[in-house]
Amino acid sequence: MAEASPATPSIEVGDLLSRADAGEPLLLLDVRNDEEFDAWRFEGRRPIETVHIPYFDFIEDAPGCIDRLPRHREIVVLCAQGGSSAMVVDTLREAGLPARNVAGGMVTYGEYLRPVRVPIPAAEAPSWEIWQVNRRGKGCLSYVVRAGREAIVVDPSRDVSWYEAFARRLGARIVRVLDTHVHADHLSGGPALSRRSGAPYFVQAGEGFELRQPVEALGDGQELRLGGETGVTVQVRIMATPGHTPGSCSYRIGRRHLLTGDTLFVRSVGRPDLGGHVVEWGRALFHTLRERLASLPEDTVILPAHFAGPDEIGPDAVVAAPLAALRGEVPELRITDEEAFVAAMRAALKPPPAAYAEIIRANLGLVAVEPEQATEWELGKNQCAARPMPAVS
Ligand SMILES: [Fe+2]
Repeated sequence: MAEASPATPSIEVGDLLSRADAGEPLLLLDVRNDEEFDAWRFEGRRPIETVHIPYFDFIEDAPGCIDRLPRHREIVVLCAQGGSSAMVVDTLREAGLPARNVAGGMVTYGEYLRPVRVPIPAAEAPSWEIWQVNRRGKGCLSYVVRAGREAIVVDPSRDVSWYEAFARRLGARIVRVLDTHVHADHLSGGPALSRRSGAPYFVQAGEGFELRQPVEALGDGQELRLGGETGVTVQVRIMATPGHTPGSCSYRIGRRHLLTGDTLFVRSVGRPDLGGHVVEWGRALFHTLRERLASLPEDTVILPAHFAGPDEIGPDAVVAAPLAALRGEVPELRITDEEAFVAAMRAALKPPPAAYAEIIRANLGLVAVEPEQATEWELGKNQCAARPMPAVS
C-alpha cells in the first residue's frame, strides 16, 4: 500500500452529490468495513454504482483488489473520514487507475448541508422566503425563513456558523431560533445559535422533562411576526402537535406552509416510542393527526424535519407535500380508530438509535458535548419515522 500523500486528488461531498444526483456514471468504491457499509451508505437521488472492498483487503492483497476494478472509469473512493480512502486512491493511481478521494468521507457526508428554496408563488410571498436546508447524509431538514432583513432558523444542525453565513448571504439577521422538539437523532444547534446571535430560542420539552436551556416563553397559538422594521412581514404561528414527543410543536409560516418537525413526514409519521411511552405518546399523536392537522386547509404544504431516503426528495429538490396528497399516501393518516393506531405504533416498534438517550440529554442542556463525541453520536441516518406499515384499507 502507498502512503497517502497530501496531493491525493479529491472530490468534495457537495460536488459528488451533485454529480450523483445528475446521474453521472460514477463508480463509488467504499472501503469501510462490512458493518459500517451495511449500516449507512452514500446515496444520490439516482442509484450510484457501488463496489465494496474493505480497506484491510487492500492491505492484504492490493493487486487482487485492483483486478476487481475497471481500469478506465473514474473511481471515487470513500471511507469513514477520508484517511484510509486516500491511501487506497494513491495505490490505485500508482496502478494507473483514475481514482479520487471523497474528502472527509462519511463524517463530512453526514454533516453536509445544502439549502434549497421552497417554491412559493411570488404573489403569495412577495418578500419572504423559506429555505429548506437538506442534511443529505442524515436525512435531516432544517429551515431558514426570511422576511425583509430578518430570519428565523428552525431545527438547526450543530454547525451553527453555516446558518450565520447563510443568513448573511440572504442579507438578514437571525432574530429567532426555534426547534420543533427535543431531537433524539442529532444535536441541536439551537442553543448555540441563540447565544451567538443574541436571538431568543424556543423549544418545548413537555411534561416530565427537565429543560436546562434558556428558552423564550411561547406556547400554542402564539403568533410571531417576522420582517420587523421593513414593513414586510410574515406570520409564524406556533401549533402544539404532541405525539412524537409530548412537547412537539409545528410552525405555520404564512397561510399554508407548515413545518411539522417529526409529527408528519411525507411518507410516514414520527415514531412515538423514543421516551418509553409508546401507548401514551401514540394516543397523543393520533389526536394531533386526526384533530389538529386534519383541521388545516387541504392545500397546506407539509415541510417535515426528516426524510428516510432520497426518493422522498421532489423534482424541485425539496422534500414537501400538500396535506391533501398525504391523506392518501401516509397509511397512518388513514387509521380512524385510536386503538388501531396505537396497535400499529406498537407493531412498528424498533430498536432506538444508538446514542439517542445521550443526544436527548445534551439537547435538554443536561450535559455538554465535545465535538468528537458529537460526531460519533451523530453517525448514521436518522431513524425518526415509525416503521413504514402496509397500507390500511
Ligand atoms: Fe425527532
